[in-house]
Amino acid sequence: MRGTSQETDRAEVRMPWTGAMHALKGTVEGLLHNVRDRVRGARGVTVWQDEGPYYPGHAVVAATGSDLTRGFKASGRLFVLKGQVTDAQGSPVRGAEVQIWQTDDLHGRYLVEPSRAPRDPNFAYMGTCLTDTEGSFAFTTVRPRDYGIAFVRRAPHIHVKVFVGGLCKLTTQGYFDDERAMLGRDFVRALFLRTEQDREATVMKVERSREATQQAGAEVQEGSLHLVLAG
Ligand SMILES: [Fe+2]
Repeated sequence: MRGTSQETDRAEVRMPWTGAMHALKGTVEGLLHNVRDRVRGARGVTVWQDEGPYYPGHAVVAATGSDLTRGFKASGRLFVLKGQVTDAQGSPVRGAEVQIWQTDDLHGRYLVEPSRAPRDPNFAYMGTCLTDTEGSFAFTTVRPRDYGIAFVRRAPHIHVKVFVGGLCKLTTQGYFDDERAMLGRDFVRALFLRTEQDREATVMKVERSREATQQAGAEVQEGSLHLVLAG
């Protein structure tokens, strides 16, 4: 793990039993959703990926907004995650609740995990945003780190959930095109993303955000995800 201590890695290996069970439940749920979509003949929809063991839960997320950096004060590489939620016919989904959660860029830890690494006090670790009339959403966050879970490594990713009418319609993850060296070795991608189209749909092209860089007075990158709901 880049820039993190061996102590942190050992803590991650001791993932609590409840976390492991939660991760397994999320994996099975994601796979079943993808099978359902395939059976229904849904085409071009965003593929489900597992929730992982570190989802902070609805109660915590409800208290957060779309700026996870407390006004660009979080440590690390600033990043704007933009995107759009549409249905399979391409129509924008207005008023959908998009939730994200991820590691910080300080120690590569989540809000809820057994790591002993300190939290970044200026990072919210999770956020929520309602889509506008165009189905668009935007978060101000930081680039997440790669991390170890059990005995394997995960490529840097941002977890995403989309709720419509209070129901979870999608759980997936977004990746970065400048981290491709790790993408081919990521076990979650290998398990869930079976086609090249599915794999590429989850990878964000990383660019410099001119507008956010001006606002922050520091370099800010941006990337975009198109989230397509099966219905
Ligand atoms: Fe994760």
